[in-house]
Amino acid sequence: MRLMVAADYDRLSEKAADLFAAEVTLQPDCVLGLATGSTPVGMYRALVDKARRENLDFSQVRTFNLDEYRGLAGDHPQSYRYFMEQQLFRPLGMTASQTFIPDGMASDPDKEAARYEAAIEAAGGIDLQLLGIGGNGHIGFNEPADHFPVHTHLTALTESTISANARFFDRMEEVPREAITMGIGTILKARRILLLASGAGKAEILWRALYGPVTPQVPASILQLHPDVWVIADRVAAAEIAKREKLPPQHEDL
Ligand code: F6R
Repeated sequence: MRLMVAADYDRLSEKAADLFAAEVTLQPDCVLGLATGSTPVGMYRALVDKARRENLDFSQVRTFNLDEYRGLAGDHPQSYRYFMEQQLFRPLGMTASQTFIPDGMASDPDKEAARYEAAIEAAGGIDLQLLGIGGNGHIGFNEPADHFPVHTHLTALTESTISANARFFDRMEEVPREAITMGIGTILKARRILLLASGAGKAEILWRALYGPVTPQVPASILQLHPDVWVIADRVAAAEIAKREKLPPQHEDL
């Protein structure tokens, strides 16, 4: 694992955008795994700016998002498809044939999950997967559990995740309670993983995920077993690691 500690959120976003831009430059037909949530917003903005400034070519790139809420259509403003279209796909001129997100309206979510998993395989697997981390240690929507779910699947969101997501909805009843998410096995098959963590609210869980026991109670802890994980945390998100571990020798300040 390689840990980078960024001075602030802007620096974290710039560095993450640099890594994604480098992937596209080195391998123009790469397959990117993407995340939604608040954390990557700055990175997507920085990547769009960079793509314009440096004429990056995304025409052969394919993307797979981690997850989608069940019951929200792609044109719902809180769906992850809508978020991605606004933040990244339209600004980069990427078409629907390049960008894959589970269909939250599928009548048979199990079938949709299996189809999604097969589509990732058919694309040759994910070269670089972006992750955020939930306050409870979830990655994708793999919530704390007694086992690590392997494949893309339909999942029930925990109360803590539902409350965290409520900030994006007008009323509590509108917040989706289920999602289709890549499994832990799907995520671990990515050739390289970039985990972003920003803000004081992530400090404790980031430390537990990266330095605590590997356990399905902290789903992100499985990343300790992946051979090529990069983590970028801003200083406040890295505070617990700095305090308890005195920062490991392989860390780098940005
Ligand atoms: C998003 C996702 C989630 C988020 C996590 C952190 O596609 O799968 O795991 O990455 O909930 O969310 P933020 O960035 O809003 O703190």
